[in-house]
Amino acid sequence: MFPVMGSAASLSTMRGASIGPNLGWSSVYSSSALNLESKRRGVGFVVSGKANGNYPLTGVVFEPFEELKKGDLTVPFAPQISLARQRYEDECEAAINEQINVEYNVSYAYHAMYAYFDRDNVALKGLAKFFKDSSEEEREHAEKLMKYQNERGGRVKLHSIVSPPSEFDHVEKGDALYAMELALSFEKLTNEKLLNVHSVADRNNDPQMADFIESEFLTEQVEAIKKISDYVTQLRLVGKGHGVWHFDQMLLH
Ligand SMILES: [Fe+2]
Ligand SMILES: [Fe+2]
Repeated sequence: MFPVMGSAASLSTMRGASIGPNLGWSSVYSSSALNLESKRRGVGFVVSGKANGNYPLTGVVFEPFEELKKGDLTVPFAPQISLARQRYEDECEAAINEQINVEYNVSYAYHAMYAYFDRDNVALKGLAKFFKDSSEEEREHAEKLMKYQNERGGRVKLHSIVSPPSEFDHVEKGDALYAMELALSFEKLTNEKLLNVHSVADRNNDPQMADFIESEFLTEQVEAIKKISDYVTQLRLVGKGHGVWHFDQMLLH
């Protein structure tokens, strides 16, 4: 049930509706897309009915074929142009590609740490495992961003990744604490970059991209920062040598 105010003119958008005979409009609105019963109530009309077709009973008929003529919704024909791309700004596309690069760089650095702790004269297998898993996780992040880029009709462009150091020993801190502090800095840097990607999405009125970054990255990033902060604190507590061996065992199991 809904009220229809005013005269037949106010219903002129309802082409395709068939109004009940007691209004005398059925010859004007002759299509049978809607079967409407109408009753005079007070100053206006109350028109009730069941929609046979897809028209909502709002008094305004959505005309998709007319809308298609106005909008920029034509399907591109050229094979080099994405069919799916819609309201995806160049700045957003570039920001996603930059974030792919950030994730790959961090993955590469963690991989270098894995190789260092796996050496026979370092032999901290728990840390080696932790950094190997972390490296794979960052690569997965890069791939998730690639998949997203393709979903939006952007183009994945891979930039160069920087060669990480191969030595992680530190005279005062020792290698485990030094590497873990480095990891914490990387995670905070990644978080900064993700927040920047999020603000690019906001600036370009792209709520779906902002939601993607929020739901798939930001929460996990905050959790990673907390976990690695805990590890840094624990490594500061245990000092070098025997304490590190215990910490390393904890990471193995
Ligand atoms: Fe990441
Ligand atoms: Fe991470």
